[in-house]
Amino acid sequence: MKAGCKPAPQLYCPAPQPRQRRTFFFEPAVVNLNSSPIDKTHLKKPAHSLRPPPPWRGEIRSVLISRARLARRVHTLARQIEKDFAGRDLVIIALLNGTVMFLADLLRGVSLPLRLDFIGVSSYREGAGAGGLIFTKALRLGVRGRDVLLVDDILDTGRTLTRVLAKLRPLQPRRIKICVLLDKPARRVEKVAADYVGFTIPDEFVVGYGLDYGEKYRNLPFVGLLAPGIAQDVTP
Ligand code: IMP
Ligand code: MG
Repeated sequence: MKAGCKPAPQLYCPAPQPRQRRTFFFEPAVVNLNSSPIDKTHLKKPAHSLRPPPPWRGEIRSVLISRARLARRVHTLARQIEKDFAGRDLVIIALLNGTVMFLADLLRGVSLPLRLDFIGVSSYREGAGAGGLIFTKALRLGVRGRDVLLVDDILDTGRTLTRVLAKLRPLQPRRIKICVLLDKPARRVEKVAADYVGFTIPDEFVVGYGLDYGEKYRNLPFVGLLAPGIAQDVTP
């Protein structure tokens, strides 16, 4: 440095901090839909934005999948189904009662001349625990030689869909594809996989958008987690 020159002022330079990890309320969902873009919007949602709307705050701990995310994803599923079944003789078979909301939204997005029928299945036990299955409504449409899209609310242990598939296969449809809003792979005991999955979720009991606990909460417009104390015998 030349004589008479002042040294450059020292700028305050804080030591580099380790990057903060953002915490999310639940594990990122992996969406398993062949060739469709993966919806990653939920990965940006911080935990505080997942509070349920006021009327549900006592019973619902948090929103797992918001109304907006459901709408976006169901729309994407519908477009994919429309593309995959174009020109086919399609019968959509939905399982009652959990598919009501999902099915209604899905069908609005599938502009194909399809047929629709329902199979009623119910667990012996009310609440959330596993029980035996009873069929409460039989299929009425013929499916022989037709393409079947079987729609259910959630694929959990896989027992329900395995039983339903065992009833459908002898009816000789051309092919059977499975579409579920939610997939909970952690609890699977049967070897069954869905071809169209809305969201893969962690091992939590969920309600809303058609899914119930003791026949309640089907009318929530979002998928949520029950508050502690509400669920008596929820498995897990
Ligand atoms: P799976 O036979 O164990 O695959 O379960 C399928 C059925 O169990 C679904 O159609 C639901 O009625 C019910 N179920 C499984 N997990 C949940 C949940 O987290 N919330 C509400 N219902 C569930
Ligand atoms: Mg159900």
